[in-house]
Amino acid sequence: MPLTEPITPAGALYRSDSPTRVATRRRLLMCRPRHYDVTYSINPWMNPQHGADNALAVSQWEGLRDLYLELGHVVEEIDPIEGLPDMVFAANGATVVDGKVYGARFRHAERTAEGPAYLRWLEGRGYKDTLWPEYVNEGEGDILTVGRRLLAGTGFRTDPRSHAEAQEFFGLPVTSLTLVNPDYYHLDTALSVLSDDEIMYYPAAFSQGSQAVLRAMFPNAVLACAEDAAVFGLNAFSDGRHVLLPAAATGLHAKLRARGFEPIGVELSELLKAGGSVKCCTLELRDR
Ligand code: ARG
Repeated sequence: MPLTEPITPAGALYRSDSPTRVATRRRLLMCRPRHYDVTYSINPWMNPQHGADNALAVSQWEGLRDLYLELGHVVEEIDPIEGLPDMVFAANGATVVDGKVYGARFRHAERTAEGPAYLRWLEGRGYKDTLWPEYVNEGEGDILTVGRRLLAGTGFRTDPRSHAEAQEFFGLPVTSLTLVNPDYYHLDTALSVLSDDEIMYYPAAFSQGSQAVLRAMFPNAVLACAEDAAVFGLNAFSDGRHVLLPAAATGLHAKLRARGFEPIGVELSELLKAGGSVKCCTLELRDR
């Protein structure tokens, strides 16, 4: 099935109030948060003293998965592994573009076992063109695909040398962006891809130079305010029409609607306790 196949008006929840935006069906990989908890701290959102409510996290995660299914997307699931509480954040597991898999190599020891686990799963699903990386990179957490180019974050997790490695492997131009605020430690916490040539982002999360690069590349980008960024409004998933994002990011909902997108609020408060939301829970499998 080609990934570019539009979700047609016959699709379950397709609403045609904005004819300019067309959703395309995506293949997504998710990981049920069966072993999710906050037991260590590797970003400012995580407080192991408070932990997390696993049952609530599971039901919120199921809400997101069911929404994807209702919208007509395909959701695959990787089995969660005990002792890897952050494995629910599937976006970090790899970067898959044109059916090629660039493996993830985590910065922190607490998550290192996730990289090989995701790679094995993908290989088991028939992906043959894979690369186990030389450099630290946290998958789609820091490597986002915008049409035929990649935006790659660095500053907290991903080693900038992986940007060149990814460019060489995929044969796609990579633009490096430097994150400067520890609250927005992954690119996907500060920037979200809306379509093949549109993004939204929170400027203050980036270095001055990277802000200038983003302005030059995307002069019409949707800009998030501090309040929307702080509720993880940029950790969003777009299928080209529907944009799934934290319900609390109300300013972004309005801006997206004004551009013809259909924002859909999602409640993932329990996962925010580990510093993750919609996009973090979602790895897009971009086949050729
Ligand atoms: N606790 C996880 C970490 O700090 C959260 C990862 C969120 N994932 C993401 N794609 N931003 O690594």
